[in-house]
Amino acid sequence: NCMALKKNPNLMSKKVFIKTFGCQMNQYDSDRIYESVAKIGFEKTEIHEEANCYILNTCHIRDKAKEKVYHEIGRVKKKFKSKEKPVVIIAGCVAQAENIEMIKREPYIDIVIGPQAYHKINDAILNHLKKRKKEEETDFDTLLKFDYFDKIKNNNNKISSFLTIQEGCDKFCKFCVVPYTRGPEYSRSYHKIMDEAEQLIKNGTKEITLLGQNVNAYLYEEENKSFRLSDLIMSLEKISELKRIRYMTSHPVDMTDDLIECYKKNKKLVPFIHLPVQSGSNKILKLMNRKHTVENYLSIYEKLKKINYKIEFSSDFIIAYPGETDKDFNNTMELIKKIKFINSYSFIFSPRPGTAASNLKLIDQELAQKRLNLIQTELFNYQYLKNKMTENKVVNVLVENKIKNQNKFFGRTEYMTSVIFDGEKNIEGKIVPVLITHSNQNNLFGSIKLNKNIKAA
Ligand code: SAM
Ligand code: SF4
Ligand code: F3S
Repeated sequence: NCMALKKNPNLMSKKVFIKTFGCQMNQYDSDRIYESVAKIGFEKTEIHEEANCYILNTCHIRDKAKEKVYHEIGRVKKKFKSKEKPVVIIAGCVAQAENIEMIKREPYIDIVIGPQAYHKINDAILNHLKKRKKEEETDFDTLLKFDYFDKIKNNNNKISSFLTIQEGCDKFCKFCVVPYTRGPEYSRSYHKIMDEAEQLIKNGTKEITLLGQNVNAYLYEEENKSFRLSDLIMSLEKISELKRIRYMTSHPVDMTDDLIECYKKNKKLVPFIHLPVQSGSNKILKLMNRKHTVENYLSIYEKLKKINYKIEFSSDFIIAYPGETDKDFNNTMELIKKIKFINSYSFIFSPRPGTAASNLKLIDQELAQKRLNLIQTELFNYQYLKNKMTENKVVNVLVENKIKNQNKFFGRTEYMTSVIFDGEKNIEGKIVPVLITHSNQNNLFGSIKLNKNIKAA
């Protein structure tokens, strides 16, 4: 690729813009794609109109994902009407699901590349520029993708960084496209992950979120050794400049005791876990092929609460899955009341083409909407109450940045809640005590100035 650059100097100082949809894994990939295309002279821009290469990193999880992409392309077309056409690339999960069809339907698209083929993105762009030919890459080569990314430094210097450790899924929940768009489960090398973590920390990262579609299924084996998520957490704990460790998304089936034990031994692992349950009804869980029961879930909850009562849970819920009766729905409601999840996501079931649940008979959509509203009222209420209860208390905030043109700072609590507060100079990257004075559903507000009589939350 460097040779290509030398031979073709007009590739220099071209600009690339990536619009990212979907989960944190897509965000991580987009950052890595920026680093990759920099090698062939494409510099990152935040101003989409000046892009010579326009990448949409897409998500296929719900609703009219595909249509949204075509609408977005329509908007791009308009923006560039009187300008030189950029190289248009569709990446991510819609690219994987739709592949070459996308180029046939929308000739404005030049390259379609799936999430496990990003090691080919530079060559695809160079080939396209040279031959003006459409390119499509949708093989599952997760090993090659990470081998390639491992060779390019992760120069991210954010206070809070993502680090993908695992990709893909073998669980095949009946509603879900992920096993088809991301491919089979794959765990990266423990050593390469630690190298990347050290690189991030050297650049100023203070909080790492280990990512995977099934992050707690992480298993890396070499000769006579094997490494699990718990090993990664214990190793990261030892790096003194690192302040916080998170991981997501976990599956209840893989909440093994070694991982639960980490909450006893670890000071940096936050007391907050995103553990999707999807439904509070065993009948629905079985229909979904979730491989866990409500009782399994409650047992994890109890084990963790016993270790540290401050551990809080958040979850994903699918409402109105085919076959969901009032009774099933009420069971979900009951579970929510029991666990008091904070920061959860809930959606009406959306049939995805190609999945086992795609042709099931939908339940009445008006009823579905009613159930979603009830669930969300309950969930948002806990979020609001949790924030309210923090008022007049002090919380530990990892400061991420100063807010532009204001004398205020932004950071997060251990529970991921955003905090906007009055601070002092040079506190970015530090964990500071903030007195919370007021709150709403999504944010806490306060000031760093401490009053000694205030109790810690
Ligand atoms: N691997 C994670 C797990 O096992 O829970 C979740 C991965 S998925 C990217 C994120 C969430 O999207 C799921 O937890 C589920 O609630 C939601 N989701 C997936 N497919 C869906 C569908 N067909 N309709 C509605 N929500 C869906
Ligand atoms: Fe999708 Fe289920 Fe795999 Fe999660 S565990 S990614 S919901 S198939
Ligand atoms: Fe979406 Fe793919 Fe992530 S479908 S949620 S971008 S794994």
